[in-house]
Amino acid sequence: MITILSEAIQDKHVVEQLRYLAEKFKGKIAFSTSFGQEDQVITDLIFTHDLPIEVFTLDTGRMFEETYQVWHETQKKYGKKITAFYPETSQVEKMVDEKGIYSFYDSLENRKECCDIRKVYPLQRALQDVDLWITGLRAEQSVTRTNVNVLEESKAFNCFKYNPLLNWKLNEVLTYLSEKAVPYNTLHDKGFISIGCAPCTRAIQEGEDIRAGRWWWESKDKKECGLHVEPQKPILNIGKIQ
Ligand code: ADX
Ligand code: SF4
Repeated sequence: MITILSEAIQDKHVVEQLRYLAEKFKGKIAFSTSFGQEDQVITDLIFTHDLPIEVFTLDTGRMFEETYQVWHETQKKYGKKITAFYPETSQVEKMVDEKGIYSFYDSLENRKECCDIRKVYPLQRALQDVDLWITGLRAEQSVTRTNVNVLEESKAFNCFKYNPLLNWKLNEVLTYLSEKAVPYNTLHDKGFISIGCAPCTRAIQEGEDIRAGRWWWESKDKKECGLHVEPQKPILNIGKIQ
């Protein structure tokens, strides 16, 4: 299946790839946005071409104010639906009760627990009825992302995954955003490139790695929150794709 789909889209422009996949996976295709630079390019492509693709975000409850602002501006500009998924209240309450509000700084285990509760489990819910998940991953973002393919299978989330901007360079992303006047997170003007939750993201210095500002107290090969790690537990939505 992956090979057939990859061959079908390989010579198409990104908009035509999205259009083709939206038709193939009708009603079962969704794009996850964190309102980062890559995500804003994909959002613009989907909304301006009126493609039948669900757009959703995972609101961890720890995001920057600037991220909420770009979310608001995006909704205002395009007038389209962006669905928000939230963590389970009881899980957040238990974690904060037992470990405090900054538990993620204490150990890798605690950090992963927080990412699981605030991002991974909500993503599992978001993808429950989805067969093709679109993301804004780029290969040059991280050493952990160099083996990613444009189209691949996500065993963890039991669906196919499409990373349309995988081979784009940062300057191509920036040129697109500026030429099309797409709203962007103003933190990008203050030295932030990769933006996640506020307590786990900082600005980077010139010459530093793109993801140096994410979980900066951890080593490079640990800097994934579980959204893009394979394989993974638990798999809730087994058996969707035959
Ligand atoms: S992360 O795994 O380290 O947090 P990153 O911030 O690089 O991921 O974003 C890569 C892609 O993961 C984004 O383009 C987006 O598709 C998805 N993603 C990350 N965070 C979120 C979020 N909070 N909500 C929705 N999608 C997200
Ligand atoms: Fe929790 Fe930080 Fe992960 Fe956000 S990035 S879910 S605050 S550990």
